[in-house]
Amino acid sequence: MGRLEGKVAVVTGAGRIGNIGLAICEAFLREGAKAVVGTDFRRDEADAIVSRVESAYGAGRFRLAEHDVTSEEDWRRVIDETIGDWGGIDVLVNNAGISVHAGIADTSLEDLRKVMAVNHDALFLGMKLCAPALAEAAGRFAGGGAIINNLSMASYMPNANNIGYHVSKAAGRMLTLCGAIEFGPRKIRVNSVHPGLTMTPLIYEGLNDYVAAGLWETPEAAEAAIAGMGPLKISSQPEDTAHAFVYLASEEARFVTGASLYHDGGIGQRY
Ligand SMILES: NC(=O)c1ccc[n+]([C@@H]2O[C@H](COP(=O)([O-])OP(=O)(O)OC[C@H]3O[C@@H](n4cnc5c(N)ncnc54)[C@H](O)[C@@H]3O)[C@@H](O)[C@H]2O)c1
Repeated sequence: MGRLEGKVAVVTGAGRIGNIGLAICEAFLREGAKAVVGTDFRRDEADAIVSRVESAYGAGRFRLAEHDVTSEEDWRRVIDETIGDWGGIDVLVNNAGISVHAGIADTSLEDLRKVMAVNHDALFLGMKLCAPALAEAAGRFAGGGAIINNLSMASYMPNANNIGYHVSKAAGRMLTLCGAIEFGPRKIRVNSVHPGLTMTPLIYEGLNDYVAAGLWETPEAAEAAIAGMGPLKISSQPEDTAHAFVYLASEEARFVTGASLYHDGGIGQRY
């Protein structure tokens, strides 16, 4: 029996092969989830993703829904369709995220708002709009409903060159804690995962940018330097990071709410 047997999950930001959102969807399916609705506004890899998932886990348990997480209307549609198809929602993973690499001096208010809209406001929308469905999970599972916000080590580490990302991820942490207190009596657990360097296509592109900017000679040197900030001195693969989400979504975590799970090779022990 899988650790997520019978659960229905919505996972945002799952529209790119090799990213964390898709790895979470696949891990949930592997652990026996009844259905997983991955969502993304990006559609260019949608067909490839659906055939990849269906060939591994069979048809009928996975959908990749078109969804801009900053749109309340899109949230309502995804929620209604998920409940219509599978009878409820037990787990919400707010995973979609973006960054604009600049400090305070070089970040426009427009860019700051864009990052806040995806990394913070969308978490608020998902938590608020999914809460009524998640509260009903208590009738099916002792662990009730689960919200898991994918934040970052950025939520506790300052950085001079990525202001919108760090501020929005820090705000997401407080939103998680407030949600844990507010939703606890409705048996919805609210936790966050804080990944460190996880080798997704986005990160490989970022490492290449660092090399182009002359910061390191090769992407491998950049990866080693960033990973070396933690005592383990290694980076994570998306499949490793997904394990943290499986735990928090599972019945094993039924006594866990308001927790910040640092999945960062130990960097967070300083904060
Ligand atoms: N990879 C890492 O090292 C790392 C470390 C810490 C935290 N994270 C967090 O993990 C999450 C996933 O990151 P990733 O590395 O897999 O990157 P990614 O860019 O592949 O994943 C983010 C996904 O979110 C989607 N997205 C962006 N804006 C959206 C919107 N408005 N509506 C719907 N979908 C939208 C993108 O299309 C993309 O598929 C992000 O929240 C990121 O901040 C990643």
